[in-house]
Amino acid sequence: MIVMGIESSCDETGVGVVRWREPGVCEMLADEVASSVDEHARYGGVVPEVASRAHLEAIVPTMRRALAAADIDRPDAVAVTIGPGLAGALLVGVAAAKAYSAAWGVPFYAVNHLGGHVAVDTIEHGPMPSCVALLVSGGHTHLLHVKDLGSPITELGTTVDDAAGEAFDKVARLLGLGFPGGPALDAAAREGDPHAIAFPRGMTGPRDARYDFSFSGVKTAVARFVEARKRAGDTVPVADIAASFQESVADVLTMKAVRAAEDVGVDTLVLGGGATANSRIRSLVESRCAAAGLTLRIPKPRLCTDNGVMIASLGAHLVAGGAAPSDLRAATDPGLEV
Ligand code: KG4
Ligand code: ZN
Repeated sequence: MIVMGIESSCDETGVGVVRWREPGVCEMLADEVASSVDEHARYGGVVPEVASRAHLEAIVPTMRRALAAADIDRPDAVAVTIGPGLAGALLVGVAAAKAYSAAWGVPFYAVNHLGGHVAVDTIEHGPMPSCVALLVSGGHTHLLHVKDLGSPITELGTTVDDAAGEAFDKVARLLGLGFPGGPALDAAAREGDPHAIAFPRGMTGPRDARYDFSFSGVKTAVARFVEARKRAGDTVPVADIAASFQESVADVLTMKAVRAAEDVGVDTLVLGGGATANSRIRSLVESRCAAAGLTLRIPKPRLCTDNGVMIASLGAHLVAGGAAPSDLRAATDPGLEV
């Protein structure tokens, strides 16, 4: 059984093809991604209209490249991200998926983007046990409980304001490090002291929701710190600020993820999303998982960022699990919850 997955929820047009190789394991046959990230750089963030236009231009060529790379004329099923994501961007992928599935006469599966971030890990690391997943990107920050990939996912917590990657991007911009700022901030932090400045840890008070996140407080604290330095005519210690900010974000993310896995009673923590590339999030989650006796699973960086393979992988789990195909009239759901 071969499934094509289409992803267009943000700034990546992704088309992936997987084969269901054995129960719970997908094999990747094609992974084509066209990104409009460079077009957004001068605005300092993803511009929805720019993303939609870029998807329109990229979707058919990306699809053709994926078919050629997988060496197939058509898949046995088409899966597509139905939400969450940018409304106009989602529409492009969903319209393409419906058109191709109708033209080929193959079933159509509308899937949740977040589940795709977890399902993609089966390609490298095998069948997915019941787990907790921490998804961190420019668009989302979620703690999920995934019982199995064929069933609905439970959301344990999410951000009440900025996504983690978005906070990295905004702070990087404030420090004059460019967009997307996450990788630049990570690099700057290597030269700094993570304990130089005591930035706040959002949502960690005794009355705060156990699994929710907030990053606007630490972002504002960084802005105030920089302003005060400038007003006093002092130099701005960019590396120390970057390292201290990164420590605050990594500390809260990894602490809550491990806590959730322990509370829910699973043995496995899965990470996904582009911000998992962050060196401090990685080192801290590794040491905390080891201390808690948890198995840590992180897909390779290329599969952590948005792509079509993750949607194909989740689609393949649904097909194999006997899920009914979706209605071709299914509407996009930008605010889709898990
Ligand atoms: O998953 P992704 O490629 O795209 C979406 O957001 O959908 O994630 C990109 C996000 C950006 O906010 C970027 O700054 C952040 O992930 N990011 C990082 C690092 N690499 C990427 N954040 C912190 N440290 C990094 N090394
Ligand atoms: Zn994503």
